[in-house]
Amino acid sequence: MPDTKIVVISGAGISAESGLATFRDSGGLWEGYNIEDVASPQGWQENPRKVLEFYNLRRKKAAEVQPNEAHKALADLEDDFEVVIVTQNVDDLHERAGSTDVIHLHGELRKARSVKDEALVTDIGSDPIHLGDLAEDGSQLRPHVVWFGEMVPMIEFGAKEVSEADILIVVGTSLVVYPAAGLIEYTKPNIPKYIIDPAEPQLFNLDGWVHYKEKAGSGVKKLIKKLKKEHS
Ligand code: OAD
Repeated sequence: MPDTKIVVISGAGISAESGLATFRDSGGLWEGYNIEDVASPQGWQENPRKVLEFYNLRRKKAAEVQPNEAHKALADLEDDFEVVIVTQNVDDLHERAGSTDVIHLHGELRKARSVKDEALVTDIGSDPIHLGDLAEDGSQLRPHVVWFGEMVPMIEFGAKEVSEADILIVVGTSLVVYPAAGLIEYTKPNIPKYIIDPAEPQLFNLDGWVHYKEKAGSGVKKLIKKLKKEHS
């Protein structure tokens, strides 16, 4: 049983019940900001102060909320299975719930990096970044998050994990943003695949998937109960 590997692909929906807004449920606006203005290299060029303000707000908010039942149930799953979480989320709610193997495809709010050297990453906790805050190389710090049009360096690590999965769980993501959305193509044939989301998937059909059409809190708990029973 410990050799059964479960890979979980998560997105903003898993943190919704903690109080963090999703992206597309709010019509492309994120707490009053146009996503393209604050999550793109162009946005950074045009108005870095606004971009920093946006991520400072998100970092503060993420620090104020708590992991919910879904994050906790996935952390508990490690008692019985090998579990890897491949998340598009930049919050740290999976880790705070106790998950020990989390790949952040789109970066992490609690880290900042040099605008000149993407390898110069530093932990900032829940502190804000201001214009004039400098990295070790003397250049401006920016959020360690992936913006639209930027490379997703962690994608190959995510793809490797998905290719090794014995069970795949997708929770709280619209799976419309590539390359993350392409991860579901990397599975071994015929493994059990589950999706937990109150909405119908937009871009892929559900052949071969079991859909728990409900919120993450209740759906994840139900699914995990079933998996533990089947594999005990
Ligand atoms: P989206 O906002 O695109 O999708 C959220 C999904 O969560 C939708 O399918 C909702 O139906 C679902 N949902 C809403 N409430 C839920 C709940 N309580 N329980 C479970 N599911 C729920 O968010 P992501 O798919 O995470 O990228 O977005 C992907 C990427 O787009 C983000 O990482 C971000 C954004 O642009 C970057 O910033 C690079």
